Amino acid sequence: MKILAIETSCDETAVALLDCNGDLKNASFSVLGNALYSQASLHAEYGGVYPSLAKREHQGNLAPLTLDVLKQAGFLKIGAFDVKESALGDIRDKAFKDDVQKFLEETAKPPIDAIAVTQGPGLEPALWTGINFAQALGNAWKIPVLGIDHMEGHIVSAMLKSVPSDQGTVNSGEPKRYALSTVHFPLLALLISGGHTELVLMKEWFSYEHVGRTKDDAVGEAFDKVARLLELPYPGGPKIQESAARSRARGGTDITFPRPLMHAETCDFSFSGLKTAVLYKMRSMEQISEEDKEEIAEAFEEAAKESIVSKTNRAVKETKPESLVVGGGVSANVEIRKALQEMISDYPGMKLLLPEAGLTGDNAIMIGAAAYLRNIAGKTGSKKIKAEGSRKLA
Ligand code: KG4
Ligand code: ZN
Repeated sequence: MKILAIETSCDETAVALLDCNGDLKNASFSVLGNALYSQASLHAEYGGVYPSLAKREHQGNLAPLTLDVLKQAGFLKIGAFDVKESALGDIRDKAFKDDVQKFLEETAKPPIDAIAVTQGPGLEPALWTGINFAQALGNAWKIPVLGIDHMEGHIVSAMLKSVPSDQGTVNSGEPKRYALSTVHFPLLALLISGGHTELVLMKEWFSYEHVGRTKDDAVGEAFDKVARLLELPYPGGPKIQESAARSRARGGTDITFPRPLMHAETCDFSFSGLKTAVLYKMRSMEQISEEDKEEIAEAFEEAAKESIVSKTNRAVKETKPESLVVGGGVSANVEIRKALQEMISDYPGMKLLLPEAGLTGDNAIMIGAAAYLRNIAGKTGSKKIKAEGSRKLA
């Protein structure tokens, strides 16, 4: 099954074309095309994602990225095609509508079987852009459009492992291939991103039970807000990680911050108090040198890491999973990855799955892979796809 996948939930416009094979036990994915445009630098001056700017950027980027992906796959055929007005469906914005129409008038239907698109959670104007684009292509090319949950995509991305090509190297000019890791249920998923921090239990494929979630800010949001206090650019996660590493290399800091909800008898998280503690600490200091900032970054990262790991550990004790799967942008954090690896060593037999580099943040590969797995499980959702900004897995 060949799937064109589209992700526009936040500030990344991502398109991928996957050739998917196998069943839920041995699925594999060849990436025939992949294109991602990060708007992060455009949003940097706002210190976070600015929804109407994100929407406008997605509108401008979707057609060119899709053309690029079709070209990479060898599926790009330029022609002259009639496009019925009705195919363009719900696109209201005139300039975007004209762009999509032009794209469809010039681009022959590629040999693909379905289109997958993120339907939520995320920023609704951004989600709608991807959905409307996907539906116009689906209408014109007469193929189904599958709506996919963004967080489910992050879970699936942690299950994808690179397969070396036949020549034994990953870079031999052949499409990059991923195989689905063997997963055992029950499975606990730790989702840590810019908009979400939650623990969900999967007793089987596509069934989700709530275990814990943040009471206030998401952990990625806390990284971004603290970065802003430290005058580091958005997205703050990677910058805080670098800054904290410099402090550790000098021997580490004596600063400590509170770990909110650490002793509460739940698997819920809280990060807004931690951010406020950083703010008060900075206000209490007369002068703040670059080295002080690096120490604050380290102390913050330590507190965030310990909160994540201790609540995950509690959830593991409560739910006794066979696998722990970690997804979302913050799963790129080296200290958090190390701490989770250490934690798992206390549970012999339990498997830890972390996303590979390139799949930690938002991408379309995870959306296409999730759509394929849902399709072979016979669990694709309703035909009419709606953007659901605060969609919940459980
Ligand atoms: O999953 P993602 O790309 O987008 C959302 O769905 O939110 O996650 C983005 C978040 C941002 O808050 C970013 O600062 C954070 O992931 N992040 C990190 C790191 N890399 C990205 N946080 C901590 N350490 C990192 N290395
Ligand atoms: Zn995400």
